[in-house]
Amino acid sequence: MSMRRLILCAVIQMSLAGACSPSQPSGDGAAGDGSDVVADGEVPAGPIPTIEGFTPLEDHNPDPRVVEVDLEARSSEVELRPGVMTRVWAYEGRVPGPLIQARVGDRVIVHFKNSLLAPTIVHWHGLRITDQMDGSPRLMHPFLPGTTFRYEFVVPDPGTYWYHAHSDSTQQIERGLYAPLVVHERNPPRFDRERLFVLDDVRLGSDGQIGAFNTSGPDIGRGRTGNVLLVNGSSRAVAGSTQRGALERWRIINAANARTMYVRVRGGSALVIGTDGGLIPTPYEFHELEVAAGQRYDLAVRADAAGDDDGGAPVLELVNNVPVFRADGTVDEQLFSLAQLRYEGAVVSRIEYTAPRVTLPSIEPASATERTLLLSGANTDAGVQFTINGRTGVGHHGPPADGGMYEPDERFVQGQPVRITVSANVSPEHPFHLHGQFFQVVERDGFPVVDEPGLKDVVLVRGRGTVTVLTYFENPGRWMYHCHISEHGDLGMMGEWEVLPAMMR
Ligand code: C2O
Ligand code: CU
Repeated sequence: MSMRRLILCAVIQMSLAGACSPSQPSGDGAAGDGSDVVADGEVPAGPIPTIEGFTPLEDHNPDPRVVEVDLEARSSEVELRPGVMTRVWAYEGRVPGPLIQARVGDRVIVHFKNSLLAPTIVHWHGLRITDQMDGSPRLMHPFLPGTTFRYEFVVPDPGTYWYHAHSDSTQQIERGLYAPLVVHERNPPRFDRERLFVLDDVRLGSDGQIGAFNTSGPDIGRGRTGNVLLVNGSSRAVAGSTQRGALERWRIINAANARTMYVRVRGGSALVIGTDGGLIPTPYEFHELEVAAGQRYDLAVRADAAGDDDGGAPVLELVNNVPVFRADGTVDEQLFSLAQLRYEGAVVSRIEYTAPRVTLPSIEPASATERTLLLSGANTDAGVQFTINGRTGVGHHGPPADGGMYEPDERFVQGQPVRITVSANVSPEHPFHLHGQFFQVVERDGFPVVDEPGLKDVVLVRGRGTVTVLTYFENPGRWMYHCHISEHGDLGMMGEWEVLPAMMR
């Protein structure tokens, strides 16, 4: 359904024609080229870019290389729909929770307090940190009501991430326990403005409250989808303004339990410049961008729509397509506006976006180990159980009660290239997520993939489809992998690998 075209050039003129200059060398080192080749701490970094509409959680550590924040999970009421208060579980009482931001290489300290009436644990989705701080319930018990935990880690990769509950995720993420986390490049590319859109859908009853959680039926088969789309915690489109000619960076996060979003930009032109694992060397145009649950994309958006200046000025818009599948096999589009930015004035000096000189690990390692994972499920006496290679994953609520540890499904050695082929034989789709590592998407249904460049930690596996990803397991530790449809993960579509440090080889 998505019509994506890969543009193989580093310097992108953001014209509607999408033309690029093929002769432009990619490594010319021009000032402000957005590359992040400078080693941590060598360059005095400028101010962290401001993200429109988001006030980051207050950093109370004076050290510029340390971000130290307090974070409380608690029950509160928020206005998801205009005029209706909905009871939620939320970080700092807000949906989404507060933005945490840092620069690559910074130390992040989070003093977490659980003021909910249920145990909970925070997972830092996508960060390649130590497994002891990952918030994996296989390794650590969720924190009991009233208790605290001090998270501390160094953020190794710039990019757009998020954090969310990882215990009883079906309920806890749906009830609002999710939030954005941005790791800025030390020398970020220049933009006129930066924005962030955290997308979700929620099912609200006629009383405006989050409805009961079903334990069988389509909510389990497909995952729970909502009846209200949310952008930055509201059913109302983000309203604002932009200037003709401006270049903006938009970060998009899909925090829904199950729904895949299909986003479009109207009234301007847009390129994908970053994926889960940060900026990519080969930005590409798109008509409609598929964003599966858990995934993130960074866009460079040029406010370049032609329009007349007297009254009929266009709007720069982010929309989501919620396709309706008809019985006769046709698909209808339903477009929902997520952001509407009025054109107000124009800017003369145009910033050109230049992709950084990122070198991705080779996708053709001669020596790669091959592994296959089959995502499946069945009705059992105990209800629906999902499986990976026939096993139902355990450990959603903490390590075994006897004080031992669960065995990982397999051990790999750090740096070992492994091609993982994931296929599914149940349900429409499965966003497959691996903690603590990045991978590249190399094949779909046996054919090489050329239009999903960049590093990812979530890949969408279609119901009867197959995807092959390649990882180098660069981060040692014990790492969960699971379907990011919370209902599937919670009911067993989950496993764990251990990556041994290279020196133990
Ligand atoms: Cu975003 Cu294991 O999760
Ligand atoms: Cu799934």
